[in-house]
Parts: sequence; structure tokens; C-alpha cells
Amino acid sequence: MKILAVETSCDETGIAILDNLNILSNVVASQVKIHRKYGGVYPALAKREHQRNLVPVLGQSLSEARLLKLKLKTKNSKVKVKSQKLKKILEREPELYVRLENFLTKYEKPDVDVIAVTVGPGLEPCLWVGVNFARALAYFWDLKIIPVDHMEGHIYANFVGSNPKNVFPAMCLTVSGGHTQLVFMKGHGKFKIIGETRDDAAGECFDKTARILGLEYPGGPAVAAAAALAGKPAITIKLPRPMINSKDYDFSFSGLKTAVLYDFQKRPGNVKKSKKYIRAMAAEIQQAAIDVLIKKTIKAAKNYKAKSVLLGGGVAANKELRMQLARKIKKEIPNAKYHIPNALLCTDNGAMIGAAGYFRSLQRKFAPWKKIEANANLRLE
Ligand code: KG4
Ligand code: ZN
Repeated sequence: MKILAVETSCDETGIAILDNLNILSNVVASQVKIHRKYGGVYPALAKREHQRNLVPVLGQSLSEARLLKLKLKTKNSKVKVKSQKLKKILEREPELYVRLENFLTKYEKPDVDVIAVTVGPGLEPCLWVGVNFARALAYFWDLKIIPVDHMEGHIYANFVGSNPKNVFPAMCLTVSGGHTQLVFMKGHGKFKIIGETRDDAAGECFDKTARILGLEYPGGPAVAAAAALAGKPAITIKLPRPMINSKDYDFSFSGLKTAVLYDFQKRPGNVKKSKKYIRAMAAEIQQAAIDVLIKKTIKAAKNYKAKSVLLGGGVAANKELRMQLARKIKKEIPNAKYHIPNALLCTDNGAMIGAAGYFRSLQRKFAPWKKIEANANLRLE
């Protein structure tokens, strides 16, 4: 089964083509440079960029998968009739409509069986561009759509390229820019959120504290890079580990951000601008977040008798988190398997949506394009 998967929930335009779980292509157009000026994602701008990027990314993805074929001759009349409907589906994405109509007039229907698309959670205008794009393609090529939850995609990044056995029951820690969740999975498609952040997500905490320190967006990689240069810090900073000993599996990261701000404000100007301070602070922010994430994950995995621990989401690209969690699992729950996606599959991409779509399709969870809608507040069930 060939799956064309579309991801536009935030600031990456991703389209992948999977043959079952194997990647044929996985193209991501990042908008990071555009949003950097604002220190975060600006939704209206992100929607515009998705409109511009989707068709070129589709072309590149099909081409890399060797599925892009020029039409021999255009059956003009038929295309015209279909393009009226296409225009209606994309009435709120006029720029995308023009690009897509050109593309569909030029190229054959590719050899794909189904379209998977992120329907939520995420930024509403961004989600709708991807959803309407998928609807338009499904209508034009007469394919069904598999709606995918973005957080489910982050978990299923662990299944891209392989289908590990004896995974369930599994404890999944998903850490992204918008979410921090502990999800217990009894089997494929069976999710129970047992804990989550009560305020900021872990990635959001990195993004916001990076901004305080004058590091660039996205903050996660910037904090990690600064932390890696800290060595044995010359300046001692101790940040809180919010909720580390709470009885539940919830998280809270906004207090961490506030503690960083207070520490920063009380330092003299020459100190807070110094590399020594910024690196020491970055190392402490990273460690504070990691300590809480690991403590709760291990506790949850133990109490739920999980056979495996799965990590996912943009923050899962963090080397220290990956390494320290591995060490802790080996020490405290040595019988549990530890799965982490390749770092490139941790941040938003189409392949993870395709893998989630693959397992959904086994449960026949697809629908006609007319029934597919975006839902910015979608929650895993
Ligand atoms: O999953 P993702 O790509 O998008 C969302 O669904 O939000 O996650 C993006 C988040 C950002 O907050 C970014 O700062 C963080 O993941 N991130 C990292 C690293 N790479 C990305 N955080 C820590 N270390 C990293 N290496
Ligand atoms: Zn994400």
C-alpha cells in the first residue's frame, strides 16, 4: 500500500510517500527562517507559506519516490469540469488552488492508494491548508483520506521503516512545541493520556527561555547547542524542577521559564550577556526539563508495567534527553525496550503521519474527502 502523507500543523510543510512503513520520500520545507524574526510561529504567515510550499513539496516528494509522470496529452474538457469543484474545495486557499490546478493539469494521477493528513491538533489556519489540500487531491484522484492526529504521528515516528514486535503495552513520552504528554498504549490505535503539561509544553519552555537569553528560534536546538558548550559551568545556577515529586503524571514548565527570567533580570548586564552565563543557564534549563521528563516517564512505565518506552516529538531530537533516558531505563526498568525515532523524524514531517496512517488503514479508519475536517483542539483517545 502506498500512502501519501501531508503535514502542515505548524511551521513545516511536509509530504512523504510510504510503501507500507518504508519511506519512498519524505520532503519537509521549513519556515524557520521566516518565523525567526518574530521569535515564534506567526499563523497567518505560516498559512501563506504552506500555500506556497505544498505543490513544490508534492512535486519533489513524488519525484523522489519515482511516481511523478507527465501527462501525455491534456484532456482539457475533463480537467475544466473538475477544476470548478477544485476551486470550491480550495476557496479559502486561492494561491494554492492556482498552483495545484497547474500541477494536476500537467501530471498524471500517481500510483498511490490513500492520502493521510494531519487534522489536528495544531494551528487552525495551518491545519486547514493541509486538510483542504488533501481533500482536493483525494477528490481529483478519487482516493480516500485517513485523518491522523499529530501527536499520534509523533508516536508513530517510531514505526517508520520498521514494525517492532512486543511493543505493547507501551508508555509514550511525546514532547513537542505545543504538547508534553505521557500516553499509555495498550495496542495500535489505543491511546490513553495519563499525564500532560498544565501550562507550557517542554519545547515551548525551550523556545521562551532561549528568547530571554537572546538565542535564536527555535529555542530547543539553540539551548542544546549552548548547553553542549557549557563544560563545567563557571557560574552556578539552580533552577526548580517543577512538579517532579507530584503524585500524578502531569508536568508544568511555566515556572521554569519564570525562574529563568528572574535569574536573568538580577544579573548585571555584563554577566547576562556573557557566553559563560548563557551556556551555564542553557545547560541548567535543559537538565531541569530532562530531570522532570525522565522521572515521570520512568514512574509511569513502572506503574503501568509497560513493555516498552517510546519517545517522540521535536524535543525528542535532544541528544541529552535521548541518552539520559536510555541510561535511566537500563538502570531502573532493564526489561523494558526503548524506542526512539531517528532525530530527523522527531521534528514535524510527513513520514510520521504516513506511519500512523498505515496502522489506521489496517483498522480501516479512512473516510471520503467530504467528511474530513481540521480540529485544532483534537485529543488522542
Ligand atoms: O514536534 P515539533 O517539530 O513541532 C510541534 O509539534 O510543536 O517540535 C518543535 C519543538 C520546538 O519547541 C523546538 O524548540 C523543539 O521541538 N526542539 C528541540 C530540539 N529540536 C527541536 N528541543 C530540544 N532539543 C532539540 N534538539
Ligand atoms: Zn509536532
